[in-house]
Amino acid sequence: MAKKTRYVCSECGYVSPQWLGKCPGCNQFATLIEELEETSAPTLTKKSTVIPKPILVKDIVKEKTIRFSSGIKELDTVLGGGIVPSSLVLVGGDPGIGKSTLLTQVAINLSKNSNKVLYVSAEESVAQLKMRCDRIDTSANFMALHENKLDDIISASDGYEFLIIDSIQAIYCEDLNSSIGSVSQVKECANRLMKFAKNSKTTVFIIGHVTKEGAIAGPKVLEHIMDTVLYFEGEPQDNYKLLRSVKNRFGSSQEIGIFEMTDKGIFGVEDPSGIFISDEIGKNAGSVITPSLSGNRCMLVELQCLLCKTIFGMPRRMPLGIDYNKLVVMLAVLEKRAYMPLFTQDCYLNAMGGIKINEPSVDLAIICAVASAQKETPIEKTTAILGEVGLTGEIRPVTQIEKRVNECIKRGIKKIILPSSNLKTLSKYKDKIELKGVKNVYETIKHLFG
Ligand SMILES: Nc1ncnc2c1ncn2[C@@H]1O[C@H](COP(=O)(O)OP(=O)(O)O)[C@@H](O)[C@H]1O
Ligand SMILES: [Mg+2]
Repeated sequence: MAKKTRYVCSECGYVSPQWLGKCPGCNQFATLIEELEETSAPTLTKKSTVIPKPILVKDIVKEKTIRFSSGIKELDTVLGGGIVPSSLVLVGGDPGIGKSTLLTQVAINLSKNSNKVLYVSAEESVAQLKMRCDRIDTSANFMALHENKLDDIISASDGYEFLIIDSIQAIYCEDLNSSIGSVSQVKECANRLMKFAKNSKTTVFIIGHVTKEGAIAGPKVLEHIMDTVLYFEGEPQDNYKLLRSVKNRFGSSQEIGIFEMTDKGIFGVEDPSGIFISDEIGKNAGSVITPSLSGNRCMLVELQCLLCKTIFGMPRRMPLGIDYNKLVVMLAVLEKRAYMPLFTQDCYLNAMGGIKINEPSVDLAIICAVASAQKETPIEKTTAILGEVGLTGEIRPVTQIEKRVNECIKRGIKKIILPSSNLKTLSKYKDKIELKGVKNVYETIKHLFG
């Protein structure tokens, strides 16, 4: 039988015994969420007999955390160096992006190292799970369970070191009346799994779908409960997917991993710079290489620009992987500060390999790609360009310049065109690579194309 529940407003905390469409407390609509009523609320009048004793920070004995490898290098990097025992990890993403595939692979790898793994497939039957396993590795050797009831799952998980829940939206807690996949169910299930993980020293991986309506009942409502939250980014039809860490109690939340979906499973891409640059670079006008930071990782990315004569009155501006407004502003700067007329040209700009870049350092590369297309003059394939561009045409310094220069050197770049104000910290690279500092857009265009 269902336990006693109540409805609490997620905005203002108003409590009501029944569900209401509009919260009487804050007048917001559809904010009341079902919750289990606390049976033994702590009373303020009762005095505790044991007085807790604070401890000096320097006297705290540090626990040595041993991390497990998931067997997938990219995933270990995103997790901050491996899986932390008895942690709670959420893997979110659009349906079909590869969450089940990734965690099936993790289950296979962990069980190979004689860890006890239970994969709870609440969405798919065990036969479907078997099909996926066969696609990845026919020697898969972990335990599988098709179950939706949370209490049964927790009872069955006793004694396992790793528990994988696929997915949180497909399991339910019988004590709540709310439907499966609702905010109340998802929250209550996650809370109980957290308690289970901390009490039983089991590491729990939870898969969560990001819903199209935004974050309702999606992984967003769970972020504060989790130790680590990873999101898969990219379109399901793209071959390359980014796994981004958005929260990590045991490592940097800036890490990203790049994965490729194949028929044998999902694999980390060891050399991401390679996939964003074509072999033809340097031969045709309009291509520029720029070192771009994604999270903590620096990658060389190729930008390509194509200019065509405008047929209709209004010229078209069409960026892919770059913000539309950024392109429009850069074209305006180029027209005004480098005297390059573009109002009769349609402009198409593409960040190759399906990557999205939105950091300011890409500004100068956009300018140079457009200028190269306009002048019909290719830029050397061993030249990289970076810098933030202001509206007056001045070139401003970029962050983490040493990381970017190191990546360029590693990738065989011979010359970097960069903000001159960044040069003062780069004297040690003088004999390794040619560094050309520039102060404004006009000077850059003149240097490149005469
Ligand atoms: N034989 C295959 N070859 C290549 N890709 C496949 C194959 N089978 C499935 N996929 C890919 O796997 C994806 C489904 O992955 P899955 O891990 O089930 O996603 P999720 O759990 O995130 O919904 C599909 O979108 C498809 O692109
Ligand atoms: Mg799935």
